[in-house]
Amino acid sequence: MSQEYRIAVLAGDGIGPEVMAEARKVLEKTAAGEAISFAFDDQLVGGAAIDGAGIALPKETLAACEKSDAILFGSVGGPKWESLPPNEQPERGALLPLRKHFGLFANLRPSVCFPSLTHASPVKESIIEGGFDVLCVRELTGGIYFGSPKGREERDGEPVAIDTMVYRRSEIERIARVAFTAAGSRDHRVTSIDKANVLENGLLWRETVEAVAKEFPEIELNHLYVDNAAMQLIRNPKGFDVVLAPNLFGDILSDEMAMIAGSLGMLASASLGQRAAGPGFDAAGDAEELYFGLYEPSGGSAPDIAGQGIANPIAQILSAAMLLRHSLGLGEAATRIEKAVRAVIDDGLRTSDIFTEAEGTRRVNTVEMGDAIVERV
Ligand code: IPM
Ligand code: MN
Repeated sequence: MSQEYRIAVLAGDGIGPEVMAEARKVLEKTAAGEAISFAFDDQLVGGAAIDGAGIALPKETLAACEKSDAILFGSVGGPKWESLPPNEQPERGALLPLRKHFGLFANLRPSVCFPSLTHASPVKESIIEGGFDVLCVRELTGGIYFGSPKGREERDGEPVAIDTMVYRRSEIERIARVAFTAAGSRDHRVTSIDKANVLENGLLWRETVEAVAKEFPEIELNHLYVDNAAMQLIRNPKGFDVVLAPNLFGDILSDEMAMIAGSLGMLASASLGQRAAGPGFDAAGDAEELYFGLYEPSGGSAPDIAGQGIANPIAQILSAAMLLRHSLGLGEAATRIEKAVRAVIDDGLRTSDIFTEAEGTRRVNTVEMGDAIVERV
């Protein structure tokens, strides 16, 4: 009997629906090769939900996510909703509550530059020749994003704004374990980021990561202050394997790494919470840890090219692959998708964002890229 997985599909705004259609095709094709099937549950989110239901994250959407094995997220936001109050805007109004509601504490952001796509990076060829593969593990539900007190008050007759950076030891421990575990199936190196020369938080972060490292003797650990890390990442991205960072620092450094990699259209991400109970989880029978998760491209909704059918669907497709691996325990199926993506790049297929006139390359649109990957899966 085939196992059915329920996926909440939140395509969102801009290029979201276009690239999501390609990811679904790839998932369907992948399922055909395994004894599995997918039930996709389409729901409104972001600007589309503001227009359709008056709020960026409607109750029905949240309820559908609760019933699902995982969430496949597109992208949200656009000029149409930029004048709304910050908390009601698509990005903050949908993403932050989803993270908090599902306790998605671990944000995995792979920054991968394929050897044949180094030209898409603004960084000198001599620095990134041969490409690179860095994984940012960002803490996602703590730190200055969510600490209290938070807000505004008046002091001495003028407004004061307050955000508080708070980390509990247990929050640092669990994200550190995710980073060390990930390093175990990579190059066995973790660089932990903090500001221990200034922040109390940095001291606790560093001593806690040191303690967790003892559980992983095969992993090499080093520490960098965040300001120095910002420089070293651009000086020698190839020197990094896993970068472990608190919420705000990870937000900033992962964007820097995405820029160094070249095209946002290629970068996937996963936001993982506790292991969830449900039909999908018992059947996996896999030793790997499984998490409930939200999977989304690192790039935004790209309103400038939305509706033209030229967006790169690879980030969305690779996000779907991460979903298979981390939430469904289907690591082999995920690898098949990742290999198919590499194969079409090797074949010279390029969407506009990664295209340069060169021998053996061909410019394709969103659907053509999706079809070529489906073909290869
Ligand atoms: C991201 C985004 C979000 C963040 C915003 C939209 C709330 O920048 O996912 O990195 O800061 O976490
Ligand atoms: Mn960000």
